[in-house]
Amino acid sequence: MRGTKLPEVTRQPWRFGGAEVDRRSLLTGLAAVGAFLVVDVGAVAYANNWLRPAAAFTRQTVIDGLRSVYGVHLGFRKNHAKGVAVQGYFDSSGNATTLSTASVFRAGRTPVIGRFSLAGGDPFVADAPGTARGLGLAFGLPGREQWRTAMLNLPVFPDNSAQGFLGRAEAGKVVPGTGKPDPAAMAAFLGAHPETKAAMAIIKAHPPTVGFADSTFSGLNTFYAVDDAGVRTPVRWSFVPLQRAQSPGPGRDGLFDALVRQARGTPLRWRLELVVGEPSDPLDDPTVPWPAERRRVDAGTLTLTSALTEASGNARDVNFDPLVLPNGIEPSGDPLLSARSSVYAASYRMRTGEPKSPSAVQVDQVRV
Ligand code: HEM
Repeated sequence: MRGTKLPEVTRQPWRFGGAEVDRRSLLTGLAAVGAFLVVDVGAVAYANNWLRPAAAFTRQTVIDGLRSVYGVHLGFRKNHAKGVAVQGYFDSSGNATTLSTASVFRAGRTPVIGRFSLAGGDPFVADAPGTARGLGLAFGLPGREQWRTAMLNLPVFPDNSAQGFLGRAEAGKVVPGTGKPDPAAMAAFLGAHPETKAAMAIIKAHPPTVGFADSTFSGLNTFYAVDDAGVRTPVRWSFVPLQRAQSPGPGRDGLFDALVRQARGTPLRWRLELVVGEPSDPLDDPTVPWPAERRRVDAGTLTLTSALTEASGNARDVNFDPLVLPNGIEPSGDPLLSARSSVYAASYRMRTGEPKSPSAVQVDQVRV
């Protein structure tokens, strides 16, 4: 099995909310929780690309906006707050080495930790089939390399800007008194965001599957696979399920409980497909799908062997920053990637400094 040793954190200062912060100081005080806990240090070069110095819209605007929509829940992610940790491994087929030098694609096994989640900032929200499902994965590669990805069970992302992302969340905010969002607010938002209207139509045409175990999880943003000659090929990726899902039971945590029960009985598997872009395919807009007939490379199989209650020492404390990439995978110019990286770091930094409460899904309390 490939190595999982923590890379050393370089002493490179970076900017956070205007103040210069030593990157190592961000880790001070955190317990050492294993090989995957190098958090909040990736993608520094990209972290502030989308924040112009005088811009009124910053990553803190997004964090504050999410807290206004979903309430203040100390210690939890400001989005995808409800989740369960998982662990397992990835068996590479070796097929993707034609596209990328990334060591994770060489034939062999790589340990993985991950987290299934539901979109939204309420860690105790009732599971609902229409809520977007997330899967974050962190691959433990040898030496200093890491690969993290945060994916959804959607065919496209509804937004192509951070402003759009927050605006949509605000338009969907539940109005006190009615218990529902204001339809006029969403109509106005969609009127001003045709890209979201078009993406929502595509999402509606792909209804969600029964549960987490039979969901396809896609990265949605575009990246470059880089081969040993330096050729850069645009790719998107999806983890395609290799099993059916158990039906969710009733109750607040029905979807998660079904996942936990199923994972107890048998390992859960997904095939990693790299989808190869053509020159006509958009590289910087995850609201636009690539044609279905694009070439797909079977890169290997993800196997998840156990589900764990969120806790110190597992994926709870990992930042699934989409710009933590190994050699052989590079970001596209999609501005949403740097926006995500920046906002995830802010959410991570805030939640790790806050007091913790038990998560909604307590794995050992899920009955067979
Ligand atoms: C292609 C687009 C996107 C995808 C596929 C995606 C997916 C995900 C997933 C799966 C998670 C949960 C990861 C985990 O378990 O830690 C997550 C977390 C989060 N997302 Fe996104 N997301 C996208 C875009 C955005 C955008 C545009 C924003 C805001 C600008 C955003 C804000 C957040 C925040 C604040 C978190 C919590 C981060 C943390 O505390 O670790 N996401 N996202």
